[in-house]
Amino acid sequence: MLSTPAASLSLHARLREATADAHAQLESLLGLLDSPMSYTRFVAVLMRFHGFHRAWEPALARALQDEAFTAPRQRLALIEHDLRALDIDDLDIEALPVVPEAAQLCRTLEGALGSLYVMEGSTLGGRVITRRLLADADWCPAEGLLYFHPYGDLTGERWRQTLALLSTVPPQRQQAVVDGALATFALLLQWLEPAVVVPDHGEDDPSSEWGVAL
Ligand code: HEM
Repeated sequence: MLSTPAASLSLHARLREATADAHAQLESLLGLLDSPMSYTRFVAVLMRFHGFHRAWEPALARALQDEAFTAPRQRLALIEHDLRALDIDDLDIEALPVVPEAAQLCRTLEGALGSLYVMEGSTLGGRVITRRLLADADWCPAEGLLYFHPYGDLTGERWRQTLALLSTVPPQRQQAVVDGALATFALLLQWLEPAVVVPDHGEDDPSSEWGVAL
């Protein structure tokens, strides 16, 4: 029997190819490389990621059952650190909306691995975002922010560990991982969109409308 082109690709190559359009859409929706980056928009995006991680991280840990792998990848506390560094107070952080569908992404191990690919991949682009913020966002703390660049010099090593885990998925279960990654991008696109429709007026006023319910 002839093998299909998809079957001859590594799972990583399949994931990259299948999610390239969604990645481009998300990148353009968020506009995180806009110059200068708007404080209001950046905070609103972080708030939405908070609602995602709050539901997703415990669900991922349950699905993978590998504390040594998942614990160092938990980023909820880093988002909270960044929000505080950007003058958002604890009560407002605690009241941020959660997206319960993020937990559903990890209903199966394959779905969890697909969403892991997406969320860990965001730390790669995060290096570029962080450099840009430090260069031209005057509201960005000099020591930088943590969520988009959580691993520092370990970024490459952590990514290789993620790819190594993905490479253990047998061929017959790979499509479900790809589907999980696509579902993750779809949910993110839907969930993050309100963060980027914040009104322009009151741009740098932390008390202005975020476009998300506080
Ligand atoms: C403006 C926002 C973003 C920019 C500029 C950006 C940019 C990039 C860049 C440059 C890479 C390749 C890095 C490398 O190969 O060293 C990358 C990879 C990746 N990014 Fe993004 N990204 C952004 C947002 C996101 C978000 C929000 C997510 C998901 C939550 C995401 C998911 C991924 C994934 C999964 C990869 C890995 C692709 C692969 O398999 O090689 N990115 N991004």
